[in-house]
Amino acid sequence: MIDPQRVYIFDTTLRDGEQSPGVSLNAEEKLQIARQLTRMGVDIIEAGFPVASPGDFRAVQAIAREVRGVTVAGLARAEKKDIDTAWEAISKADQPRIHTFLATSDVHMQHKLKMSRDKVLETAEAAVKWAKKYTSDVEFSAEDASRSDLDFLCRVIEVAIGAGATVINIPDTVGYAIPSEFARFISDIRSRVQGIEKVILSVHCHDDLGLAVSNSLAAVAAGASQVEGAINGIGERAGNASLEEVIMALHTRRDQFGKHTRIKTDEIYRTSRLVSNLTGMVIQPNKAVVGKNAFAHESGIHQDGVLKERTTYEIMNPELVGLSHGNLVLGKHSGRHAFKNRLEELGYQLSPAELNNAFQRFKELADRKREITDHDLEAIVEDEIRAVEPVYDLEYIHISSGSTVLPTATVALLRGDDRLQEASCGNGPVDAICRAIDRCTGINCKLSSWEIQAVTSGTDALGEVTLKITSDGKKNYVGRGVSTDILEASAKAYVNGVNKLIWDSNNGIGTNPQSHSSS
Ligand code: KIV
Ligand code: ZN
Repeated sequence: MIDPQRVYIFDTTLRDGEQSPGVSLNAEEKLQIARQLTRMGVDIIEAGFPVASPGDFRAVQAIAREVRGVTVAGLARAEKKDIDTAWEAISKADQPRIHTFLATSDVHMQHKLKMSRDKVLETAEAAVKWAKKYTSDVEFSAEDASRSDLDFLCRVIEVAIGAGATVINIPDTVGYAIPSEFARFISDIRSRVQGIEKVILSVHCHDDLGLAVSNSLAAVAAGASQVEGAINGIGERAGNASLEEVIMALHTRRDQFGKHTRIKTDEIYRTSRLVSNLTGMVIQPNKAVVGKNAFAHESGIHQDGVLKERTTYEIMNPELVGLSHGNLVLGKHSGRHAFKNRLEELGYQLSPAELNNAFQRFKELADRKREITDHDLEAIVEDEIRAVEPVYDLEYIHISSGSTVLPTATVALLRGDDRLQEASCGNGPVDAICRAIDRCTGINCKLSSWEIQAVTSGTDALGEVTLKITSDGKKNYVGRGVSTDILEASAKAYVNGVNKLIWDSNNGIGTNPQSHSSS
């Protein structure tokens, strides 16, 4: 039964989101994200595009086998082989969904598919019927729907519904639509397509003009009941609709939309951080809902207003999205018990080994930094929760650097009981560190990006380094490290990236083959 008051949240972070340039998640990382999305309460996780690569297949399969209480979708072109492979990957899911797609715009049909309109109608029907052999839950997407001829699109949708599609998705594939126009488009589809009331009408908007969230919300107001998007708005080109923004807009302006989701909004912030940490896509500070400044009040007038009455300048309570106030929580003398309690309050469940390491990190930090906030705790804990078992650990770095000396780094890594120690010069201290680590591991990597963010304010703040490395110039591995010393954070991040690279070569592939053959 379709609940007319409900907006179903379809998360495609692991599929379209992973198609962001430079992003490649391994199966373990995808599982971590899928678990968190389930905790957050999304209705559907699009776990990947199983035919795209063996790594993608394995990741989708692992997610389908493990997560419960959520629909797991696998993407497939409107081809038997894709559909068979998608089914093989998702068949063990609690609630499996095959999501098959075919382009319906003239430009795609003529130049990409080289299919006539009749052929597209026939192919869409055959694909949905083929998918229906496997599962009752079949979603059909008319790729580039927003640039398609409306009459023809309505015919395709009718054919797909006739063949058994239970969800019809209207993508704005190239982010071309304008909210008022898109709302009209959705209304027209609803009034013209026979049988549309029997299916869930979904939208999938891209952000090329910065309108993905607005278009999604306009579609909901016009009667769409499923929204597709990605956490932090990641995805092809300018990305997908930011799910956290859609969710919070629906929640905050429920007076306007009159519809609800089943999202646990206080899991949003943690989900956003996890996706950012694992994809290496740093969140811009002024990003709505999850950016560092989203709840910061800079001007005196605003600060004064918020102190007098929070709602003067805050339309959402930060706690609603799971953001703690970053209060001073623990100090040098805090014990293990208090540490563990606070982490549990923040929603972290660590294994005994992770807890040990995190506690040691906390003690070291307390020696270097007077005030330790929730944000510091989050940063060190997330540094300890590793999707990949490390081969190398950083023991120490020693740097000699300055404006008149050649930057030199000495690095010691631990590999099991072995200790590897090397020194190297470099163009700068970070370069010297990376070269010295390469000497220890015997793997030559190139740094393709390096970014740093301060976790809190103040000169003693923790620095969080996110970098990407590559050894073949094609595939990137994200490394992350935190420390009050930004060179140490860089070394940790580099070692983390190298560990992922080794894991990938030992386990044979990540999940993103660089260019998905989706369109
Ligand atoms: O943007 C798009 O059209 C897609 C489809 C595969 C749903 O990602
Ligand atoms: Zn898309």
